[in-house]
Amino acid sequence: MSRRPAVSSLDRVAERKQAHLDLCLREDVEAATKTTLFEDVDLVHDALPDLSLDEIDTSVRWLGKRLRAPLVITGMTGGTRAAFRVNRDLARVAEEAGIAFGVGSQRAMHSRPESEWTYRVREHAPKTIVLANIGIAQARTLSLDTVKSLVDALSADALCVHLNVAQEILQPEGDRSFTGGTEAFRRLVRGLDVPVVAKETGCGISRKVAQRLRAAGVRNLDVSGAGGTSWVRIEALRAPGAARLGEIYRDWGIPTAASLLQTRDLGLEIVASGGIRTGLDVAKALALGARVAGAALPVYQAYREHGIEGARRFIDALVAELKAAMLLTGSRKLRDLARAETVIGTRLARWQPRRGRGVAS
Ligand SMILES: Cc1cc2nc3c(=O)[nH]c(=O)nc-3n(C[C@H](O)[C@H](O)[C@H](O)COP(=O)(O)O)c2cc1C
Repeated sequence: MSRRPAVSSLDRVAERKQAHLDLCLREDVEAATKTTLFEDVDLVHDALPDLSLDEIDTSVRWLGKRLRAPLVITGMTGGTRAAFRVNRDLARVAEEAGIAFGVGSQRAMHSRPESEWTYRVREHAPKTIVLANIGIAQARTLSLDTVKSLVDALSADALCVHLNVAQEILQPEGDRSFTGGTEAFRRLVRGLDVPVVAKETGCGISRKVAQRLRAAGVRNLDVSGAGGTSWVRIEALRAPGAARLGEIYRDWGIPTAASLLQTRDLGLEIVASGGIRTGLDVAKALALGARVAGAALPVYQAYREHGIEGARRFIDALVAELKAAMLLTGSRKLRDLARAETVIGTRLARWQPRRGRGVAS
């Protein structure tokens, strides 16, 4: 067995990540009144599907690999011994279920290279997709070689570069300058050997931003829209001085379903995350153009409540609920679900891009 160096004193980044995890268990950290707007999507019922439940095939190709279900446990943690356990256990759950797994921001790994092992999950998830993760604030300033080494250390299949402006401005110690972000994407897409996923963290990606990312060469988005975990809320709980700003902006962002409508016809591969809580949400997201759907908070909560078994049960439930939606829409494959008929309510329809109003691609 390889000996692992102890993580003795936590640095500030790792301490903050631990505080985030604790708050996610103790407090209500989701949007207050904003929703994903998936409730404004109806999938049209097929009363005569001519299918049996066991013919339904939820497999999908993504980032060059085949997943058994179109799901990803999105990045949450790393940097400490406790974080390693979360990464290892959830990576094992992902491998077993044939879904993808993302580690949390590798900023702590960059500042404390001795914590690298807390992100290394490849031996626990040898076959499935593993996603590396860094914030745009770091990606802007790190050399290409440094970013490459963060990806290589994990033998990752892709790098998620997370966008979290709303979170940063709530953090007393957060970044205040966001210049050079688009250029950083251009540099990474050109220089890395793996795909780059532009990933929000709960505020959604608009059509205009998606178009700018696409022009920079990005082909993969995780819209991570509003209606689920609110990072403004989490940071406001951590910094009482930010309570007022936190109240005002807790629900800031583009609802997840709206972000899908905005970005779905731009030729990008899209992950739908942010407030995905049921397999029906997954099905609606896929019918609105997403390739896979992701979840963070409910997976972590299920894991902390009932251990590995809790996380496994949550993922199994998502898959079963997705299969139900596929049967009920007469979709044998995800390709069929992608073409399933949807009815969109008026609140969500307002987010539909209108041709000729400056938002067309
Ligand atoms: C405890 C926790 C830690 C997170 N840390 C990261 C991170 O390090 N990097 C990142 O890209 N996203 C991070 N996220 C954001 C999630 O990946 C996801 O985009 C967001 O929480 C919305 O999904 P949800 O509503 O299912 O939680 C974190 C989320 C949670 C709950």
